[in-house]
Amino acid sequence: MIVPKLQLHPDDSRLRSIIRAIRSPDSCWPERILHDPLVVARVRDRTVALVCDPDALREVLSSDTNRFPRWLPVYRPTADGKTRPNSIFVVDEHRWRGYRDAFAPLFAPNNVDVLVANSVSATEVAVARCMDDATTCVTRAALDIIWRTLLGDGPDARTSDDLDDQVYGLVDASRAGDLRAANQWIDTLVPVARHRGPGALMGPDAPMARMTNAGSAACPHLSDAEISDNFLALLYSGQETTVTSIQWAIWLLGQDPGLQDELRAEIREILGEAVPTRSSLQKLRMLDSVLRETLRLLTPSISTARSCTEPFEVAGELLPAGSVLVVPIYAVHRHRSLWEDPEAFRPERHARKLAHPMAYIPFSAGSHTCLAAKSSWYELMAILVTLLRRVQFTTSAPEEVGLHNNLVLRPTCGYDVRLERL
Ligand code: HEM
Repeated sequence: MIVPKLQLHPDDSRLRSIIRAIRSPDSCWPERILHDPLVVARVRDRTVALVCDPDALREVLSSDTNRFPRWLPVYRPTADGKTRPNSIFVVDEHRWRGYRDAFAPLFAPNNVDVLVANSVSATEVAVARCMDDATTCVTRAALDIIWRTLLGDGPDARTSDDLDDQVYGLVDASRAGDLRAANQWIDTLVPVARHRGPGALMGPDAPMARMTNAGSAACPHLSDAEISDNFLALLYSGQETTVTSIQWAIWLLGQDPGLQDELRAEIREILGEAVPTRSSLQKLRMLDSVLRETLRLLTPSISTARSCTEPFEVAGELLPAGSVLVVPIYAVHRHRSLWEDPEAFRPERHARKLAHPMAYIPFSAGSHTCLAAKSSWYELMAILVTLLRRVQFTTSAPEEVGLHNNLVLRPTCGYDVRLERL
């Protein structure tokens, strides 16, 4: 199976911008990041380090957030050109914990059964409506799921009816690589949610409002503006990562009809015709491995960044206080010291123990680990089960597809995935 890869550079000469080192690795990461524990460069008066050493990664990601705070300037050039100071992604570390505690219940284990039911229902609606185009189909499903999650809606809600304009707008914007337009389409949903009335995110009984109205020190009351900013941020990040993950899974499976058939057989054997649930999804070992391998090779969020507030030693090199530490998730996932034959698609490798707990970090790790790290797995599994039951995928022209990062990991050119109803 052919797996696309980033075009990296033969030497370190392009590592001249910190923002680009985090956001546009295809333009500046050196090839040696795939086998060295560390690559260090000086950018003006600052040190920037790409860190693949797993012990150092564990320390950086799991330590107190005051010791290795997020490097926030990377969020300034956001999709719409302005910082959203009130979102969980950009808020200062000392206020961030309150935000995290406020939103975490939306993605908590007790909500996973509803999330799975929503994922099945939203995917069925998407397949029924958008069979002619795989991207539209997946975008509809992903947007519908995160919309229901944030509004506190269940699988029977008629939420799908509200989303058509946004889905087509998002697909066009994403095909044009225009993140600003994509963000604006998502932004149009904020007032829709506001006017949904009780049960909606911002109504009096809304999940987020209920959590934030408590006004305790750990969970301070959020203003309307803060809730809007976070609603947009969660909606956007939640749908974009899900769409990318499923698209790449479909792309890989589209090259291997035999593997699709094996997965369908596993689904039939374990689930029969039943609607998947949280516990039945855990039994689909082969599908789990395929999903893990997809998120290893084609991980949607390919990097994150911290800074160090004191000198920090990595792989025998002392980085000065104030250095920017890039966690190059894509490179960690293909690192020669952590994976055997790292460029190959081999789902069965996930049956074995990892070489190091930090070898596999699609959702990052530690305090800032993805808020939806656990629930996303169920969502993605439920979407894949529903798609595999309904549709056969065929991918064309894999040789021509390269990778680049534009918020998430995307193909460099359009490619064809045919969906045929089973
Ligand atoms: C396949 C799906 C997803 C992947 C691979 C993914 C990956 C990531 C990564 C790598 C981070 C950065 C963590 C860090 O800086 O250490 C992150 C953060 C975050 N993600 Fe996700 N994500 C996914 C889905 C979602 C979904 C569905 C949501 C729901 C809205 C979400 C919400 C967040 C939030 C709020 C943060 C910031 C957490 C914090 O700083 O405390 N993600 N995600």
